[in-house]
Amino acid sequence: MKKQIWFYLTTFVIIFITVGAVTHYDDKATRSEESGQRSTALLPASLDAFYPPQADRPLFTMKMLEMDFPFTGIVVDVLEDDIEKARENFEKFKTLYVELSELIPEWEHKFPMEPVHELGEALRTGNPGAIMGAMENVGTVCHDCHVPNMVKVQQKYHWPDFNMITVQDPLTNDILDFAMFMRYLNVNFTGIFLNLERGNIENARRYFQGFTARFETLKESCQGCHDTERMYYVDGTIQSQIQKLGQTLDEPTINPQTVMGLAMDIGKQSCQKCHLVHLPAAFAKKEWKKLE
Ligand code: HEC
Ligand code: HEC
Ligand code: HEC
Repeated sequence: MKKQIWFYLTTFVIIFITVGAVTHYDDKATRSEESGQRSTALLPASLDAFYPPQADRPLFTMKMLEMDFPFTGIVVDVLEDDIEKARENFEKFKTLYVELSELIPEWEHKFPMEPVHELGEALRTGNPGAIMGAMENVGTVCHDCHVPNMVKVQQKYHWPDFNMITVQDPLTNDILDFAMFMRYLNVNFTGIFLNLERGNIENARRYFQGFTARFETLKESCQGCHDTERMYYVDGTIQSQIQKLGQTLDEPTINPQTVMGLAMDIGKQSCQKCHLVHLPAAFAKKEWKKLE
């Protein structure tokens, strides 16, 4: 009898765990499918009209900032116990919220009115706790659209396109697009270490010369988008690491460990870190071009 209970119990536990695992698995599958869809889904085309080049200014951004001012103002007023002013700010906010909801037809459903009406009601009663609760619910509406869309809008409309940057290669004089130039630079970088490994010291030095020339061009290319001096990736610290690499390669007996250390440093501090900042936007834009 005891044995049977144990049998049932373990069966139950096993079924429970299995069912749990399966539902969990299904859940995950649906979720990743959704987020997959979300990450590739394009932004509504009607947004184009509110950003350059179609508009002369980023009108959508400005409208958001305009709405945010009285919205956040409500919190300031409530903290200062000025419910009358909070109600005034609410009226301004509501008008702008409705205006924004009508701007992008594809996003109209993302501006539900109930939470806004509830905030109006809470402000009418004047109970600070109820007001803050209702503010949080409206804030969730904002957040739920920001999370899937804000970065995409930044990448699509605020990030310049690396495709518009062309570079004159200092070694061949060819005019290259940025991605091709990167591949050329990479050849020089790899060429140094490959030749060193094979004992072709003269060749390694030649690849290094080419690398410094191309790196100088890379440094100039930043001006295509930045008008202030760059503090990272191509700055004095990296330049002096490159110089040290050159000096090490010029020595009569080359210390492979010093070379590898410098190579790793340059790769990490310049190439990799610059990629971490610039690739998400650059590659997102390329993927969207394919879908458009
Ligand atoms: C602006 C900062 C920046 C620095 C510094 C930088 N890269 Fe890049 N790299 C990029 C960008 C942006 C791309 C993507 C270009 C594109 O596809 O339009 C890229 C792409 C690449 C690619 C892929 C090319 C392709 O066709 O897929 C390689 C390889 C590469 N870089 C190597 C390097 C190496 C090696 C260094 C350092 C010696 C380096 N990069 C330094 C920005 C940088
Ligand atoms: C339907 C989508 C959507 C809703 C709803 C929405 N926003 Fe936005 N919001 C955006 C997008 C997209 C951006 C990015 C605009 C840009 O960078 O050009 C943005 C940007 C902003 C910014 C500017 C942030 C910055 O980068 O400086 C503020 C502030 C803001 N929203 C406040 C709000 C508030 C407050 C609400 C709710 C009451 C709200 N938003 C609701 C889509 C939305
Ligand atoms: C196609 C345009 C483009 C090019 C070319 C470009 N960047 Fe950027 N970079 C951006 C944008 C956009 C940002 C994010 C906002 C900002 O800082 O302007 C950024 C951010 C940065 C940042 C972090 C923020 C800051 O200003 O410190 C650094 C550092 C940086 N870039 C370095 C470089 C370097 C070094 C080069 C050249 C090797 C380069 N970038 C080339 C577009 C570009």
